[in-house]
Amino acid sequence: MLQDLKLLKNQAVKDIKIVKNLKDLDGLFKKYLGKKGQITLILRSLKNLSKIKRAKIGKAANELKDFLKTELNKKAQNIESKAKKKTKKGEWIDVTLPGKRIKIGHLHPITQARREAENIFQFLGFSVIDGPEIETEWYNFDALNIPKDHPARDLWDTLYLKEGLLLRTHTSPVQIRFMEKNQPPLRIIVPGRTFRYESTDASHEVNFYQIEGLMVDEKGKVTIANYKAIIREFLERFFGKPAQIRLRPGYFPFTVISFEMDVSCPICNQKGCPACENSGWIELMGAGMVHPNVFKHSGLNPQKWQGFAFGMGLERLTMIKHKIKDIRFFYNNDIRFLKQF
Ligand code: DAH
Repeated sequence: MLQDLKLLKNQAVKDIKIVKNLKDLDGLFKKYLGKKGQITLILRSLKNLSKIKRAKIGKAANELKDFLKTELNKKAQNIESKAKKKTKKGEWIDVTLPGKRIKIGHLHPITQARREAENIFQFLGFSVIDGPEIETEWYNFDALNIPKDHPARDLWDTLYLKEGLLLRTHTSPVQIRFMEKNQPPLRIIVPGRTFRYESTDASHEVNFYQIEGLMVDEKGKVTIANYKAIIREFLERFFGKPAQIRLRPGYFPFTVISFEMDVSCPICNQKGCPACENSGWIELMGAGMVHPNVFKHSGLNPQKWQGFAFGMGLERLTMIKHKIKDIRFFYNNDIRFLKQF
């Protein structure tokens, strides 16, 4: 019987050597060590032997059993690690690894900036108002004191639609729409999409956002001083640092006393940088005191009311805040860009 065990061992070693996969290996386990396996059967038949033989053969059979168990395990590991190496990287599934983290998106940087601006203005007592993106010539131009065939209309390169309609070139028409329906005193901002028929470059887009502002009250109550205080407060909160502002003369048909407003460069703190062309100032918006004709066209009495209005580009504000060099990044939808905000 000892001889049988020896033969069995040789056979098993051979079998284990040539086996190639876990399924066949499992077959070998059953063949030798399973319930009806050859070694199991030998161990079971020991009871029929004499005491001395039983001890001797029993010992040898048990040793063989342990030996085969170890060999089978070794081979199993061997097959597994070979399979791992063979499978291409990434195809191997290790079920003990933690799962993939789900990427959560976020709001577009322009939306974030718009909401921030809205919050600040709301804190300062302004209401957030909407208006249509498709406008009539009346609201976009005539009512704003920009007559037909007047060269001022050329300031806005316009995308015209059918039947006298157009894509609004600025958010200013909402001034008229709002004052037609609401009596002053009023304080509103109008964030919204605007369109221009022009070629794009680092600072121009066909489609962009403006924030219009309008504050009106009885004559003498709302002045340029109010404008300066409010805008400065807004900018300090938006950029998160102290800001200086300065006004330069400008021209807009819908304001009388029109100006351009510059802010102290928040990027270099007026030390000089490419964004402010080393001047320390960045041009940010047009503004002025509402033209009497604008009140008239809205159905309000220009003798009674007075106020300021302004309009600024939201992309420009956001570009300064985040030091973004090209407006086109906002609309390319390059995930590497968007992820940063
Ligand atoms: N609508 C002007 C533009 O698109 C910006 C602007 C300037 C708005 C002066 C105003 C203002 O309300 O008073 O260029």
